[in-house]
Amino acid sequence: MKLLVTGGAGYVGSVVAARLLEEGHEVTVLDDLSTGHADAVPDGAAFVRGSITEAGEVLSAGFDAVLHFAAKSLVGESVDKPGLYWAHNLGGTLALLDAMRQAGVGRIVFSSTAATYGEPERTPIVETDPTRPGNPYGASKLAVDTTLTAFAGLYGLAAVSLRYFNVAGAYGAFRERHAVETHLIPNVLKVALGERESVSVFGADYPTPDGTCIRDYIHVADLAQAHLLALAACTERRHRIYNLGSGSGFSVKEVVDVCREVTGHEIPAVVAPRRAGDPAVLVASSEKIQRELGWKAARTTLHEIVADAWTGWQTPESGRGL
Ligand code: UFG
Repeated sequence: MKLLVTGGAGYVGSVVAARLLEEGHEVTVLDDLSTGHADAVPDGAAFVRGSITEAGEVLSAGFDAVLHFAAKSLVGESVDKPGLYWAHNLGGTLALLDAMRQAGVGRIVFSSTAATYGEPERTPIVETDPTRPGNPYGASKLAVDTTLTAFAGLYGLAAVSLRYFNVAGAYGAFRERHAVETHLIPNVLKVALGERESVSVFGADYPTPDGTCIRDYIHVADLAQAHLLALAACTERRHRIYNLGSGSGFSVKEVVDVCREVTGHEIPAVVAPRRAGDPAVLVASSEKIQRELGWKAARTTLHEIVADAWTGWQTPESGRGL
């Protein structure tokens, strides 16, 4: 298929673009490089530097589907700058959907998030659970999910939203590369690399067995595989929504321990105050995508996920991805 990958110079987008190329698809990456890296665009993909609000020109060349990753994705930043998140994530996506309609492109796979659920009433979270996002990031992504449902009914759009939980690991040299790193695993590995003295544990007084937050970590390569299945499953007039996690939760302390095992470094950890907006436990049920699309995580242990991330981080100069 001829595919447009928005945000394909970022972490998840670049891994998915690489996997699509491996499967024989023709890939064009559209990315404004506001947070992505040009050298993360996989070899073999065409690259257009630009905003999703200018997608019309690119799409006029004729495409079969869009995989839409381009977004602002920092929870904390979204609280400080809600307008930026609504403009980019909802406004930008509306412009993209409009350009798709004009160009006759009827299929989209969208990067949604666990943040659409907010503080869960129960775990694991299933797709029919209430969506009460606790920050503008989650709210803006939920607004896109709502739009996709409406457009499927109104215009016959074939859409799949994948609600990612905590994406981690690396795919070969493709790894996370954020200018400001907020995620747990990269921050812990930076201590092992000697780039930081210690890692902060944001809160040790949560109602969890060891007092630290529990999250569901999914390997970026397993996540990429789900995109291939989602693309094949796009059905006219339907908007499907799937959670994507491994189904197991690990506490911050457990993550730090596994990083110590993998790297052989002591990794000092210092308990710090809670970070605003962090739910105590976020674990996905991925039963629906397993049942309907046959997806299954191939890299299920946290050890494997951290080991792949560590391999990616040890070669920073060749690190690719966002
Ligand atoms: N944490 C630390 N120290 C750090 C970094 C993180 O203790 O240096 C803790 C956080 O407080 C949290 C856990 O580690 O309890 C995981 O934090 P991350 O920042 O790695 O990930 P989040 O769970 O906050 O965020 C992820 C995605 C978001 C998505 C969110 C859904 O990265 O895009 O899940 O709530 F919105």
